[in-house]
Amino acid sequence: MLPRLKLIAIRPYRSRGRFLHPHGARSRRRSSTDCDDVASFIDDRRRGVETRDGTRDDGPRRRAATTTMSTVPARARAVASRASSPRVARRASSRPRARVAAARATAVDADATGPWNTAPLALTDDIYAYLLRNTREDAVLRALREETSELRGARMQVAPEQGALLALAVELLDARRVVEIGTYTGYSSIAMALAMREGGRLYACDRSEEALAVARRYWTLAGVDERIVEKFGDAKESARGLLEEFGENSFDLGFIDADKRAYREYYETLLRLVRPGGLIIVDNVLWYGKVADETVMDKQTEAIREFNEFVTNDARVTYSMVPVGDGLSFCRKR
Ligand SMILES: C[S@@+](CC[C@H](N)C(=O)[O-])C[C@H]1O[C@@H](n2cnc3c(N)ncnc32)[C@H](O)[C@@H]1O
Repeated sequence: MLPRLKLIAIRPYRSRGRFLHPHGARSRRRSSTDCDDVASFIDDRRRGVETRDGTRDDGPRRRAATTTMSTVPARARAVASRASSPRVARRASSRPRARVAAARATAVDADATGPWNTAPLALTDDIYAYLLRNTREDAVLRALREETSELRGARMQVAPEQGALLALAVELLDARRVVEIGTYTGYSSIAMALAMREGGRLYACDRSEEALAVARRYWTLAGVDERIVEKFGDAKESARGLLEEFGENSFDLGFIDADKRAYREYYETLLRLVRPGGLIIVDNVLWYGKVADETVMDKQTEAIREFNEFVTNDARVTYSMVPVGDGLSFCRKR
């Protein structure tokens, strides 16, 4: 007998005749009450993206890449031919690898012809449901997600697949000291703290007493309360305080997930705080797809666009923007 096959409709977005990466098909932040019961997630997604000003986004249009895109291929050719000259090769071999990479890499020209994967994956409802069914989540995190879904601002919580990726980053780095900028009810802090070994410390910065009250209960339930040090108040001051207390290069990982207009300031402080080889991870870099829509000009969206452009050109880090959840950027301090 033939197996029953299910067709998945992959619906890439098109703009100016070209297929675009359709990740913004993801709708609002997850606020479902159960990872197994993905139906409510899917319902959210069918309703489309609800923007903060109450309008609806049906999908993103990718903004042409920033800066001097049209010149990139020519520049890339020039860099390649320079790199093959014996003088440059000699200089490069005496330089740290990261600095050579920094000198050569530029932003990708989104308008150039390939080679691209000509059918980038559209995160359809079915595929997202599949992804959730293949994502691990601790029982306490699941309970926290249920409780948070009833609260104001529930969509601020990181998605389960982001929590899993944050935990993996903590494990890969064997992070002993972590700072989180923006804790809310505690999902990401617990996901990371559970991945730390005994004796590790996560400094959780937030200015909402109401949200932290929930977080505290779940830190205890998850058994990570001894690993978490709460820093109540303005996170800019808390981060500066940590720099004074522990000094530069003293943290393994920093996670930024608070007020978007201060991202650049958090990033600069965390770049001092985190050790070379450590990571700064930044959430909401795709901002519900709004960063790619040129008609959206509000201050938060503009701030994230400027931040993303800055990091793309920042040679102090090795950098990758990952379209998971609302977009996570990984910046490894060189
Ligand atoms: C997106 S939520 C964080 C979500 C959290 N990472 C999670 O996984 O549930 C942003 C949080 O940042 C906090 N926040 C915003 N601006 C802040 C500031 N200047 N200082 C401290 N906390 C701030 C808010 O109170 C809110 O709880």
